[in-house]
Amino acid sequence: MARVKRGRAEGSRDEIPFLSGSPVQGAHFGDRDEQTKLLVSRMTSGRNVLVISPRRFGKTSLLLTAAARARRTKGARVGMANLFYCTDRREVAEEVTRAVLNGALGWGGATIGRLRELVRALPGITPRVEAGGVSYSLAVSSPGHSFLEEIRRPIELLRDSAESAHPVCLVLDEFQQIAEMEGLAGVFKGICDDIPEVSLVFSGSHRHLMAVLFEGAGAALKNVAEPLGLDVIPEPEMTAFLRSRFEACGKQLTSGAASLIYELMGGIPHFVQLLAGATFDVVEAVADEATVREALVVVLSRQRALLAQGYEDMSPTQRKVVRALAGVPDSEIQGVDFGRRAGLAASSIQAAVKGRRGLEEREVVAFQRGQWRLADPLFERFLLYGLGLDLGESLNPADIR
Ligand SMILES: Nc1ncnc2c1ncn2[C@@H]1O[C@H](COP(=O)(O)OP(=O)(O)O)[C@@H](O)[C@H]1O
Ligand SMILES: [Mg+2]
Repeated sequence: MARVKRGRAEGSRDEIPFLSGSPVQGAHFGDRDEQTKLLVSRMTSGRNVLVISPRRFGKTSLLLTAAARARRTKGARVGMANLFYCTDRREVAEEVTRAVLNGALGWGGATIGRLRELVRALPGITPRVEAGGVSYSLAVSSPGHSFLEEIRRPIELLRDSAESAHPVCLVLDEFQQIAEMEGLAGVFKGICDDIPEVSLVFSGSHRHLMAVLFEGAGAALKNVAEPLGLDVIPEPEMTAFLRSRFEACGKQLTSGAASLIYELMGGIPHFVQLLAGATFDVVEAVADEATVREALVVVLSRQRALLAQGYEDMSPTQRKVVRALAGVPDSEIQGVDFGRRAGLAASSIQAAVKGRRGLEEREVVAFQRGQWRLADPLFERFLLYGLGLDLGESLNPADIR
């Protein structure tokens, strides 16, 4: 992290003040201490946890931070599977295998002989050594193969490696991906019941998909895991984090400016870091509220094509709904007031929001903290001030409220 770039302000001690876009750890990870502690304690005591939040609230960052701490302080063997790219049960089995062998059992520090020994316990698995490490592929069996055993076996192997000085844990990030894979929820329910020694941490976004798996009558994974809600980081902690990052990198952020960043980005960690980073870049020494507005114009201008694309991909009714919601969250979007504001009948709003591939399912709008709101604060600012940017108009920072 200590790369040096020319032309930085005097006194800059640390190169990159803010990171957004990929999971963060270490100095880039702000206050989540309570949740980290709770996760570490569950990961190291065979208990299952369920982490749900919208995208970009910091789930993966929290999981990585807790896993690292559990390894360091409790000798835990923690595997991290990311199911995001998995499209079928075979790929889930391959990813779980990779997480257990590379991550939890850390064969990387051992010999090829040890890897062979581990792989022998997993029939059908072929390791492939690549530049980035080892990946695993499964030989195909019959087309109707369930892959149930292939998902279970590496987790049993993990259980067998448990010792009192080495608790074992498997994190399943982006778990909502399995909602549409037939039979998989039942497979994981069986694993929870039969392999209690392994702490399973389920993590996912897309509330409605996670609800299908974990909540309500008929949910296969009902009551298997303790829910750990992940909200935005509260304003006092997040603004303190921003200001200390500015300082660590040789500049300053006024407290009014820090609050404005937080407010404009709805407190969502990813967007807060994005705007904070842009603010850091446009200022020489001390960033105030005017700097933040300038930085927001830079970000909106830079992302206008993408933001406009998101708008273009909506039906005319959906566009009316998002425009009416921008800047004005509403507790009752099917009520008369909102209908009047959007110029739409309640039934059209219902279809635009709740229908298949509707705004809720696509996580464009979400019901959070008692109100319907736009999930992406940058898109919201684009709707409020930036639509003209894509037509070549300019936006005056002073117009941003
Ligand atoms: N604890 C944190 N402190 C500060 N910023 C964070 C924190 N957690 C996440 N972020 C910001 O949010 C972005 C998305 O985090 P990530 O962990 O990938 O979220 P998720 O997995 O929920 O989509 C990160 O790139 C970072 O900018
Ligand atoms: Mg993530």
